[in-house]
Amino acid sequence: MDSKLSVSVTQALKEQTDSLHRRAESTRFFISLMRCQATIPDYITFLRMLSIVHSVLEKEITSSENEKLKLVWQDNMRKLPLLNEDIQSFTDSKKNSFSHFSEIYADATQPIHQALELVQKIKTLALKNPLQLVGVLYVTEGFTNSGVYMNPRITQAYGLSGDIGIRYLKNYGEAQPAEWNDFKRRLELAITSDEELAEVLIGAKYYYEQFILMFDSLGTSLQPRSVQSTSINPEAGNHPVPQNELELRAVFIASKASLVELPYVHARYGKRGESFSDSDGAWLVTLADFSEKVAFKQTEWLAKLLSALGMPSVTLEIHLREIAKALMVMIPEECEKYSVLLRAAEQLELKRHSVVPQELQEEVCQEFRRVIASTEIESYKNLERILVSTMADERIFGTGAQTKTLAWIYEKSNYPKHIIQATQKLVQRLNDCIKAQ
Ligand code: HEM
Repeated sequence: MDSKLSVSVTQALKEQTDSLHRRAESTRFFISLMRCQATIPDYITFLRMLSIVHSVLEKEITSSENEKLKLVWQDNMRKLPLLNEDIQSFTDSKKNSFSHFSEIYADATQPIHQALELVQKIKTLALKNPLQLVGVLYVTEGFTNSGVYMNPRITQAYGLSGDIGIRYLKNYGEAQPAEWNDFKRRLELAITSDEELAEVLIGAKYYYEQFILMFDSLGTSLQPRSVQSTSINPEAGNHPVPQNELELRAVFIASKASLVELPYVHARYGKRGESFSDSDGAWLVTLADFSEKVAFKQTEWLAKLLSALGMPSVTLEIHLREIAKALMVMIPEECEKYSVLLRAAEQLELKRHSVVPQELQEEVCQEFRRVIASTEIESYKNLERILVSTMADERIFGTGAQTKTLAWIYEKSNYPKHIIQATQKLVQRLNDCIKAQ
């Protein structure tokens, strides 16, 4: 006959798995996650492994007739939809640029293999020892306590916003402490004897061990393929790009930030503008390996090329500054090396000022901004600098792009009347000044 409970179930679980918790949070993967250093492929694999585990675990539990499991389980404990949402946000190219990483890196076969072994065991437990699955649930629910520590780091490391990519770890959100307490209350109600508790403990310890095994193997079997410019942007030419993931990550973060600064690029070139911002950005990082002279020369060459395509040199200048900033945050020990990109941006700025002096630029830009309503600031951000740059570039590079860019702006459907009028005024003023030089 079962002996009545001599201890609190949740207390016993906490105490007897404490050392396993410490081991779990000290696995290489969680340490690097907490230091904002876990790679994106590792994070995606982490989500994939858990989605494999939860797809089976949740199916077995919801179809089980075991009374204890029914008492403990609640439908809002499902993690699979959250995991799938997160995985999709990393692989959906519409949401961010991280989809590149799934193509760039080989699949993590070893950790996935580990997860597949675990699901076989879960199926066996569902048949033979369903009480042990209560222990598994204790660990999966307990793990939701850690999200509050991990989420800000993940968001920062991968340049995410809102809930994107962290739905699983965010889980119950604000209701986390209340849900955790309610889960513990249900555990205390469901488990009523020392024998039952012993089974639950076996399940919890087993799951912890498996968890640790999975995350120990994370990061060891990922073999980066050589990264090609075409895997970043299929339309890009074949040019060098960094092989270091931190550098690539910085490029994608910078690319997003540049596009916020330059809505003109998206308005005129749409998705292509974004893709080239990524691939050109990746190429620009490789310039930091060269001398200042070479880096400047190459930057100037790209400035001329882009300007001829309707992207005046200020777009490159802004992009270079964003890239340098992101690289310095991501790899602070290499600040000195990346500062060459900042100096290359300054060179472009100086060259422009040799045609349109800084005071004049500020004056015409200020006048332009006066016509922009507060609700329009984001949509027309830096448009005045683009106009100045188009005209200065024409003098510097003589590419003939100015006429086309202005024609595009004057198209009725592209900008409203007051912006067109302000543009005409700015162009007139600069033309007069440049001619007088
Ligand atoms: C960096 C990694 C982690 C951090 C920072 C972390 C943090 C925490 C914290 C602060 C709590 C206590 C919550 C409370 O008592 O209100 C907790 C509880 C818990 N965590 Fe973690 N955790 C981490 C990793 C993990 C992992 C990998 C697992 C499972 C594999 C896990 C499973 C649990 C469980 C089961 C509990 C409940 C303990 C109890 O019975 O009170 N944690 N965690």
